[in-house]
Amino acid sequence: MAPRQVALRARVVMKAGKPQIIISGPPASGKGTQCETIVSDLGLVHISAGDLLRAEVAAGTENGKTAKEFMDKGQLVPDAVVTGMVKDRLTQDDCGKAGWLLDGYPRSASQAQSLEDAGISPKLVLVLEVPDEVLIERVVGRRSDPETGKIYHLTFNPPPADVLERCVQRSDDTEEKAKSRLEVFYKNQDCLNAYEGMIVRIDGNRARDDVYADIKAAITSAFN
Ligand code: AP5
Repeated sequence: MAPRQVALRARVVMKAGKPQIIISGPPASGKGTQCETIVSDLGLVHISAGDLLRAEVAAGTENGKTAKEFMDKGQLVPDAVVTGMVKDRLTQDDCGKAGWLLDGYPRSASQAQSLEDAGISPKLVLVLEVPDEVLIERVVGRRSDPETGKIYHLTFNPPPADVLERCVQRSDDTEEKAKSRLEVFYKNQDCLNAYEGMIVRIDGNRARDDVYADIKAAITSAFN
């Protein structure tokens, strides 16, 4: 799309205030992939709880060491580690100026409560829905480029040959760990109950552009 068209579409969406959006869905439902497009289209600040935790793990901090134990088992990292991290990021200036897109938080009722206690409320909650068997296939084939952060899939969205050789696989992207992550997700689905009326469910088992078209329509409708 031409840059002018992107800017025009962004202005239309921003008219009614800064978007404050939560994106949710089971592991590998396409949250990160769709966030890449939303961010490049609308310029929101993307805050991914998983990415924040992986950065702590990579930096070898105490929080990172604790987080790794839970992430490696496909379980939720304790609130004591993750909640402060997400809230601190959400209250930085750029989020107020550009609007935010919160990915992978809240994942439990206590996390939803922590946002409410901090007076942080989304205006739209997008939930991607994809059948379990498709999710497993997406998990095991996912690779990402450590230089750009771009997400690929060996079959559905293969990286160019020169990028493939530096691509990495996440340590929790095995079939066994994906099953435990899925179980955790379904057990905690009621964490979105507080957002009844703001939730838009989207069929994520389609081509990426088709999924994005529905996301864009939901954002336009919520912020116009
Ligand atoms: P996190 O990093 O958030 O992982 P997740 O929720 O399991 O989601 P994923 O990153 O696996 O998938 P995605 O939905 O972003 O899909 P993607 O776009 O990459 O969390 C990891 C761990 O951190 C958790 O298990 C937990 O331990 C911890 N954690 C995180 N948040 C926490 C919290 N709030 N509290 C406590 N602990 C927390 O796509 C997946 C693949 O599919 C890619 O290969 C992609 O190319 C492909 N794909 C995407 N869309 C399509 C499409 N339409 N068609 C075909 N292929 C597609």
